[in-house]
Amino acid sequence: MAQVVLENIYKSYAARKGERSDASVAIEPLVSPVDETGLIAGLPSSATTAVSVLRRINLTVQDGEFMVLVGPSGCGKSTLLRLIAGLEQLTGGNIWVGDALVNDLPPKQRDIAMVFQSYALYPHMTVYNNLAFGLRRTQSGIRIKSSQKLPGWVENMAVAATRSLPKNLRYSSQRERAVDQRVRTVAQMLQIDPLLQRLPKQLSGGQKQRVALGRAMARNPQVFLMDEPLSNLDAKLRAETRAQIVKLQRQLGTTTIYVTHDQTEAMTMGDRIAVMNAGQIQQLATPLELYNRPANRFVAEFIGSPPMNFLTMQVKSDRLLAHSHFHLSLSPAWASVLQQYTGRSLLLGIRPEHLNLGDANEQHLPVQVELVEALGNETYLSTTFEQSLAKTDLDLLPGMLHARIEPDQTVRVGDALWLSIQMDKVHLFDPETGMALRAQV
Ligand SMILES: Nc1ncnc2c1ncn2[C@@H]1O[C@H](COP(=O)(O)OP(=O)(O)OP(=O)(O)O)[C@@H](O)[C@H]1O
Ligand SMILES: [Mg+2]
Repeated sequence: MAQVVLENIYKSYAARKGERSDASVAIEPLVSPVDETGLIAGLPSSATTAVSVLRRINLTVQDGEFMVLVGPSGCGKSTLLRLIAGLEQLTGGNIWVGDALVNDLPPKQRDIAMVFQSYALYPHMTVYNNLAFGLRRTQSGIRIKSSQKLPGWVENMAVAATRSLPKNLRYSSQRERAVDQRVRTVAQMLQIDPLLQRLPKQLSGGQKQRVALGRAMARNPQVFLMDEPLSNLDAKLRAETRAQIVKLQRQLGTTTIYVTHDQTEAMTMGDRIAVMNAGQIQQLATPLELYNRPANRFVAEFIGSPPMNFLTMQVKSDRLLAHSHFHLSLSPAWASVLQQYTGRSLLLGIRPEHLNLGDANEQHLPVQVELVEALGNETYLSTTFEQSLAKTDLDLLPGMLHARIEPDQTVRVGDALWLSIQMDKVHLFDPETGMALRAQV
């Protein structure tokens, strides 16, 4: 087991002339990353620009920790995992696994096992051999006490002499017996022991995924890297396998870095979560810290479902925020923040679960219901500010305001109602930088 330290990681790809980056990555002239890191060797000289995919990534994953990397598609999650695994070359920075600097080590020597979204099982091998294959090729995961080791030639002779006998009478080498034991232990842990003699094509998606996990576990590596390993599974199986992975990881205590773009997976699996966007870590924290104290607007919107609502408010005084449809008196804890912004605007963030049905009151939001989604255990409302008022002030009209209400409250599309805000759940952000502002506690 080992901790993994990522130190000032940069990754750029050479961009062909005229290539535009997509929205999630920045195209920078070659000089800028050179200035910052002094390292951008290896790019072909024909390249005029570099597509910068990862920038200034600093992250320490503790020994035995379950770290989740989460972020939207294209933000660089897989690239970061591939760098740790040694499948990509660093543009800048250092990667440590335990005490070893692994920047220049080939993947095999890093003692890391990676599980991909596509299971990549060997199709012509049984489940048993898929699990055993890596063990037979490498020494990792298999420990034989040297005092018990027989000379190789003795073992070879015994194997050759008994080859024609029925299977249970054949001699198998100590190494093969150790492999067998390891395969059976892992198969039991993952409950795939009844499937050991099947071929991958005879397995369901969930079973294949467990075999892929088993293959990684059997090697008993220092670090597991998992890249969206559950995204091919249906919802029920995903939830089951999610719980199983977490349990296994706790049992084995193997340092794990798990990539997903599913925030439920992130919140339920991670000891800590690194939220990424556009090649950078936005916030590194425990799941509840991310939910309760998002560092910026991006994290606030990304974590939580349905996402947080945002409203532009005018700061009238150190207590009062005004919107064209309502106003809010905040607690004195916000006074020093509001003082700085008096006369300017602020972004108010409020989660759907922190809006309730309220009475007619100028501190409440007058809305019209556009959509009702009754899920049985809870009901989601999509609403807009009342049409009559909104028409007079179109530029302040936000998108939909989402609210989550108790399922026994009957609300219909077209209803006009008032939503109240749970004042202790209010978030405020700087409208320009998007950074969260903190109340004094
Ligand atoms: N070999 C490459 N050459 C150029 N650009 C690349 C290469 N590999 C990845 N990229 C770019 O790097 C960015 C990050 O890709 P990456 O696969 O790491 O994203 P991701 O966060 O894993 O996304 P997803 O959730 O969709 O898997 C993308 O914009 C992608 O187009
Ligand atoms: Mg990916």
